[in-house]
Amino acid sequence: MFALTGIGRLVTNDPRHDSGLLGVIENAGLVADTSGRITWVGPSREISSHTDVEPTHVGGRCVIPGFVDSHTHLVFAGDRAEEFEARMSGRPYSAGGIRTTMAATRSASNDMLRDNVSRLASEALASGTTTIEVKSGYGLSVADEERSLVAASATTTETTFLGAHVVPPGVDADDYVAEVSGPMLEACASHARWIDVFCDRGAFDVDQARHILRAGAAKGLGMRMHANQLQPGGGVALGVELGVASCDHCTHLTDRDVEALSSTNGLTVATLLPTAELCTRSPFPDARRLIDAGVTVALASDCNPGSSYTTSMPLAISLGVISMHMTCDEALWAATAGGAKALRRDDIGVLKSGARADLLVLDAPSHIHLAYRPGVAQIGAVVRDGRVVVGSL
Ligand code: NIG
Ligand code: FE
Repeated sequence: MFALTGIGRLVTNDPRHDSGLLGVIENAGLVADTSGRITWVGPSREISSHTDVEPTHVGGRCVIPGFVDSHTHLVFAGDRAEEFEARMSGRPYSAGGIRTTMAATRSASNDMLRDNVSRLASEALASGTTTIEVKSGYGLSVADEERSLVAASATTTETTFLGAHVVPPGVDADDYVAEVSGPMLEACASHARWIDVFCDRGAFDVDQARHILRAGAAKGLGMRMHANQLQPGGGVALGVELGVASCDHCTHLTDRDVEALSSTNGLTVATLLPTAELCTRSPFPDARRLIDAGVTVALASDCNPGSSYTTSMPLAISLGVISMHMTCDEALWAATAGGAKALRRDDIGVLKSGARADLLVLDAPSHIHLAYRPGVAQIGAVVRDGRVVVGSL
């Protein structure tokens, strides 16, 4: 059993508790069972009727759901610090850098790949990420994509096959599309929950993306995609046509794209990755336009060695609020419940009976401080499945 009391503000993301987005309960308590599922949330004064254990008093601090990072590329070797330095001196970002990481990844051992995923997932956990999606996409051969997904599976069940990241050097694009949707998919499907395609300039076009995503769906994988990151194009329209769980980036959208996303009523989430725009000095996606049109928005880190080498969801929240004009409530919701929707999960991103006891005790009185104090570590404790895994209560 796990029980907390003295929570100054408990963000549940359960709209039954108040009229706002975050379902806040003031002076709250929370109880979880031995399997790490929440059995009760409510006013502190009622906690003794819901548990026999002595609850831990958190001294009025704020408790929020653990962050759900629904978009990362953690399976890789090496880094691209020199590319970053050159970019900061004016060289533009391009998808071609992916091939540099491909070479390093192919020459890394299975243990090195697995350890790198685990190291970065631990780094993410320390800043509050309790669920993380991890993509392949730097192997780009049957064997290297398969072992990338095996490496990812050692850390998370939210694994994504991204053989269609770019066409590897020296390979014909049509041949590669056939390989990704044939033998590579065959080898990778049992290690993945999702299939993703980078549909953009320098990567795959709409017809190639449709072919690959449909092949993945036929193998039982859920669909998600990188769309409209580098330029406007047909990625988002395709995502809506196919009913993908999430269109990620959404940096360059037409009114028609926004309407299409809105028409899905949340079935297709727009996942925004502002640290990628930060680290590539690109314009931020227009979160306000999406939210005001009724689109369900998630925030994620896009952690990868090229365009966004950070695991920090608090940074994504700060940018969401400060640079993208999301409210503090919208940004927190997007980094928790929004990420859960992008992964089509209802057991995470929310603190209610039946959900997993994945939560953060902030060293702050409210979630506003996450955006208000950019770059400051404010996670006092991380609880996953009802157990303290980082910090202390
Ligand atoms: O999401 N857009 C495609 N993939 C990554 C970039 C990967 C890289 O540059 O290595 C992204 O930004
Ligand atoms: Fe990405």
